[in-house]
Amino acid sequence: MSRTALQVRGLHASVGGLAILKGVDLEVPFGEVHAIMGPNGSGKSTLCHVLAGKSGYEVSGAMAVDGVSLADLDVYQRAQAGLFQAFQYPVGIPGLDLAVLLEEAAVALGAGPEEARERIATQTRRLGMERFLNRSVNGDLSGGEKKRSEVFQLAVLEPRVMVLDEIDSGLDIDSVREVAGAVEEIRSGEVAILMITHYSRILNYVRPDRVHIMMNGQIVDSGGPELADELEDGGYSAVRSRLGMTVPKVATRTPSVSDFFTDTPFDL
Ligand SMILES: Nc1ncnc2c1ncn2[C@@H]1O[C@H](COP(=O)(O)OP(=O)(O)OP(=O)(O)O)[C@@H](O)[C@H]1O
Ligand SMILES: [Mg+2]
Repeated sequence: MSRTALQVRGLHASVGGLAILKGVDLEVPFGEVHAIMGPNGSGKSTLCHVLAGKSGYEVSGAMAVDGVSLADLDVYQRAQAGLFQAFQYPVGIPGLDLAVLLEEAAVALGAGPEEARERIATQTRRLGMERFLNRSVNGDLSGGEKKRSEVFQLAVLEPRVMVLDEIDSGLDIDSVREVAGAVEEIRSGEVAILMITHYSRILNYVRPDRVHIMMNGQIVDSGGPELADELEDGGYSAVRSRLGMTVPKVATRTPSVSDFFTDTPFDL
């Protein structure tokens, strides 16, 4: 039986009383790639942040990597447990060169300095990262270059559970194929990959074992790769109507003339 790499049970998260995750259940076994798709604002990035241990959320429920509970672990301890998050919006770290970050991180995760340098050299050649190594992390990189840098980092650090938050957004068509190829190469029986995406294009290259649909802070449907095709064809409304879900109604009122002015010079 396959071992569960990432297990999430009844995960809730809120910020200042606003509920964002409303009971997420998810299991990704080692060796599998799972995709999460969902409309904007449905909680996908929040799930990634909460798994990685970002502060600021009130969290309840269970999360584990290879049976190790993440709940009481700091961010670096979750990384040591084997978790890696590739960010939807990678941030720049002025003054810290990518090569230095990666060598320190690989050593902190258990590689010897020699092995760390070897891994960096190998992946640098493979992913064509030479010109980024001695620049600060994400400093003045284009959107697509930042995504490539995220893939480079995970290739060097060899995590066991990869949470990839829109690794394909902002990539040109050739880069999507290359990045997907790099992810496919990393795919093995010792790794689990959770891939968040809006587009089925990348799923043509990294074929997922399961596709989950997240709406309004919950996984509402799971299935094989054909779910991504259904989304591509009919959008989220097709999924909603198949599941008998109604779109939450937003309270509306008839707009008044003053709504169309940002600075109304007189009372209406
Ligand atoms: N710190 C916060 N304070 C207030 N609201 C937040 C906070 N973090 C997230 N949210 C809200 O939670 C909801 C889910 O956000 P999240 O970034 O997880 O969505 P997403 O599914 O990743 O969307 P996208 O596809 O656009 O990336 C959004 O409505 C967002 O505004
Ligand atoms: Mg997001």
